[in-house]
Amino acid sequence: MDPRDRLIVALDLPSVDAAQVLVGKLGDAVSFYKIGYQLGYAGGLAFAEKLIGAGKQVFIDLKLHDIGNTVEKGVESIARIGASFLTVHAYPQTMKAAVAGKKGSQLQILAVTVLTSYDDSDVAAAGYRMKVAELAAERAKQAREIGVDGLVCSPEEAGNLRKIVGGNMVLVTPGIRPAGADKGDQKRIMTPAKAIAAGADYLVVGRPITEAADPRAAAQSIVADIKQAKA
Ligand code: C5P
Repeated sequence: MDPRDRLIVALDLPSVDAAQVLVGKLGDAVSFYKIGYQLGYAGGLAFAEKLIGAGKQVFIDLKLHDIGNTVEKGVESIARIGASFLTVHAYPQTMKAAVAGKKGSQLQILAVTVLTSYDDSDVAAAGYRMKVAELAAERAKQAREIGVDGLVCSPEEAGNLRKIVGGNMVLVTPGIRPAGADKGDQKRIMTPAKAIAAGADYLVVGRPITEAADPRAAAQSIVADIKQAKA
């Protein structure tokens, strides 16, 4: 895979105008963009179609979870716009519906096992008897059995999850920071090269690029780091 295609830039921006400016600055340095809640609910889905029309790949990070029929129909709509990745919460019924909805398209379903903002006490408060690590491992196994294409995980979990899901599922990791970069609110971070070495296939990077004085140079330097990683 071209190292450039392993970098996914998170367009965590308030408007399509702001996203357009950033995408213009990044030019051919970036080929893959992630659209989440903030931009997605502010015209971002129409913008995703525009990006795809311009030859970019798009990851729709709307973390779907609803009754099976609703998930399946929603996934069909996302598949129709030509997106490459879509996240869903890793509940068996939701994952099955998403796999049914993407049938025949190029869309790949990524499951979110347990949100990284959850610790053991949050999971207990939500009514689960398992600890986070156990629940994440159980859901990863279910994702593999159901035929989900990949998982979103922290780079620290990548090695362990790779053992559970084998070589065929893609692992996508946020929490990436180039050496010396501001951590922001991320707690468990890795450099791009280390995350690839830990087993990640794609890296999601937001603020180290979106808030850089020169976003294009920041993206190029991350791609250079990916290039010299030993996967
Ligand atoms: O700015 P930063 O590089 O921290 O952005 C990381 C992106 O990855 C954000 O869009 C964030 O919502 C997303 N993400 C994350 N941790 C997760 C799942 C998604 O940081 N567990």
